Amino acid sequence: MEKERQIMIEGRNISRCFPMAQGEDFYALKNVSLFIPEEKLTILRGRSGSGKTTLMNILGALDKPSEGQVFFDGEDITKWEEDACSLMRRQKVGFVFQSVALIPMMTAFENVEYALRLSGWDGDRKERVEECLRMVGLSSRMNHMPEELSGGEQQRVAIARAIAHRPKVIFADEPTAELDSATGLQVVKIFQRLVEENGVTVVMTTHDVGFAEIGDKVFELEDGEIVSER
Ligand SMILES: Nc1ncnc2c1ncn2[C@@H]1O[C@H](COP(=O)(O)OP(=O)(O)OP(=O)(O)O)[C@@H](O)[C@H]1O
Ligand SMILES: [Mg+2]
Repeated sequence: MEKERQIMIEGRNISRCFPMAQGEDFYALKNVSLFIPEEKLTILRGRSGSGKTTLMNILGALDKPSEGQVFFDGEDITKWEEDACSLMRRQKVGFVFQSVALIPMMTAFENVEYALRLSGWDGDRKERVEECLRMVGLSSRMNHMPEELSGGEQQRVAIARAIAHRPKVIFADEPTAELDSATGLQVVKIFQRLVEENGVTVVMTTHDVGFAEIGDKVFELEDGEIVSER
């Protein structure tokens, strides 16, 4: 019982098959099983094409496995319709992607505020947006447009946007790939702090060997399989 409470997501025998226009079906994931611990930083590491994004999308209910099951917060979401998945994502999940994709015509503040509005947040939005931008160290850049921010600052706005509605889980797909290593490390430290101080569960992908040290839990992927776990 105690053990169950500490697991945020379980993937059980997950395979993901892509039917190909030509040739045989392609298996991007082959019988993958894993536990994502609650309130920890989990890293999915592996080379380009190893299946990190495919796995993350399935764990975050953006995609469905061809075989196997996903238990999210204790519920088997595998058979859920898209409406239910979408509601679950809105309430419990935040995504950060490699290419930041802030809305260019909105300031940092407005970008976060807009996302918070879409989530149906019913508290004081201004206060929450300011709090989130403070958490990522951008209090002094709230009125900057995305083009007036550095790459690392833009990524931090994207993190503020992803955490604003207080999701239980943040999925970050290669959030450091377009940053230099010092700025990348800064971004990873923000995730660590979110885990330690705010009890968020973070799942992050990277191909960077350096970050593997930092994760509480690290899964190594190769050709669609987990080859090691620490
Ligand atoms: N829609 C698709 N149809 C066919 N094959 C796909 C599809 N999406 C992904 N793949 C294949 O599945 C494999 C895993 O892809 P995935 O995007 O999960 O890799 P990744 O580890 O995230 O790589 P990267 O580090 O480059 O982002 C790749 O070999 C890719 O070519
Ligand atoms: Mg990827």
